[in-house]
Amino acid sequence: MPRSRIAGIGMYVPENVVTNQDLTQWMETSDEWIQERTGIRERRYAHRTEETTTTMAVEAARQAMDMAGTTPQEIDFIVFATLSPDYYFPGCGVLLQRAMKMREIGALDVRNQCSGFVYALSVADQFIRSGMYRNILVVGSEKHSFGLDFTTRGRNVSVIFGDGAGAVVLQPTEEPGRGILSTHLHSDGESAEILAMYNPGTHANHWKEEAYAAFDEADIGQMFFSHAMIDQGQIYPFMDGPAVFKKAVVKFPEVILEALHANGLQASDLDMLIPHQANLRISQFVQQRLGLRDDQVHNNIQSYGNTTAASVPIALCEAVRLGKVKEGNLVCLAAFGSGFTWASALLRW
Ligand code: UT7
Repeated sequence: MPRSRIAGIGMYVPENVVTNQDLTQWMETSDEWIQERTGIRERRYAHRTEETTTTMAVEAARQAMDMAGTTPQEIDFIVFATLSPDYYFPGCGVLLQRAMKMREIGALDVRNQCSGFVYALSVADQFIRSGMYRNILVVGSEKHSFGLDFTTRGRNVSVIFGDGAGAVVLQPTEEPGRGILSTHLHSDGESAEILAMYNPGTHANHWKEEAYAAFDEADIGQMFFSHAMIDQGQIYPFMDGPAVFKKAVVKFPEVILEALHANGLQASDLDMLIPHQANLRISQFVQQRLGLRDDQVHNNIQSYGNTTAASVPIALCEAVRLGKVKEGNLVCLAAFGSGFTWASALLRW
């Protein structure tokens, strides 16, 4: 059975740099608070009208395809991970297929937030291993800046996130020991609501009985979206940051070790860990837990913030371009986020 390997990788971040200081014009925050708690110095925001989650994905995908030496017509399947799609539906997969004038191939959208890219990679890996497809485009892209609460009410979430896209082309390889060695996926829905965007959704506010009781049949059209939701800021993401932090620092090391142990390896064998860029403090905690040196971990949250599904491919792409990941290196990709879902992929570059 062939393994899959990343034959090409690309990334795109918008030109518009937004510093921590820039954020203080909209909300009560400070460069000091943001850097101390998250490590972030600046992030990129997409152009309001000209850039979307899909257009950024196209840029990253072009680079990945150039590196792999494939054309859009040769792509057999798309797996697209995002939590900030251009439309509520259809998903971004078909928009990418259209934008890149691809054949009438399958396009799958993945909704696993921060671990979306690693989940997407795992799905694509199975299709390559089974022999069903030979060229799969796997994308993570986010335009967060369009859906954040830029008032002080939303500051614990808004200061963290940035926009960008990353993409890889996955192809089969017969080279012994190379490519994706294994992937590991997990979820625990018990805490689904502590990092979530509830609206618009079909939950009908069941988790808020009083809000549901306030609706009468005449309001039926208002249950999906209402003025009250907008007035109360219920259209923005909600996060219990400290609770997420506590779980992340346990699950990150667990899923990384799971991948290593499944392949008879240990942390010291790793050439590079690419953790999802949730918070620099989380990455540093994980590094310390695993006893890794600074040159064994790549972080770039300082420059891009947390780009959710795009963060792992952007960080991997950057590490490759900086020469930090070289041919034959053992690389672990790991992510944790909303759901909760968490995942890892171990690969030999
Ligand atoms: O990738 C998705 C997964 N997400 C994560 O992994 C996020 C994990 N959690 C975190 O990264 C951290 O919890 C945060 C960075 C979100 C928050 O840091 P924290 O040290 O946990 O702060 P906190 O939420 O406990 O808030 C501490 C204080 C509060 O004020 P009081 O109640 O102590 O007066 C907040 O209101 O900091 C305040 N605060 C802010 N102050 C200035 C919250 N956000 C801000 C802000 N600027 N942006």
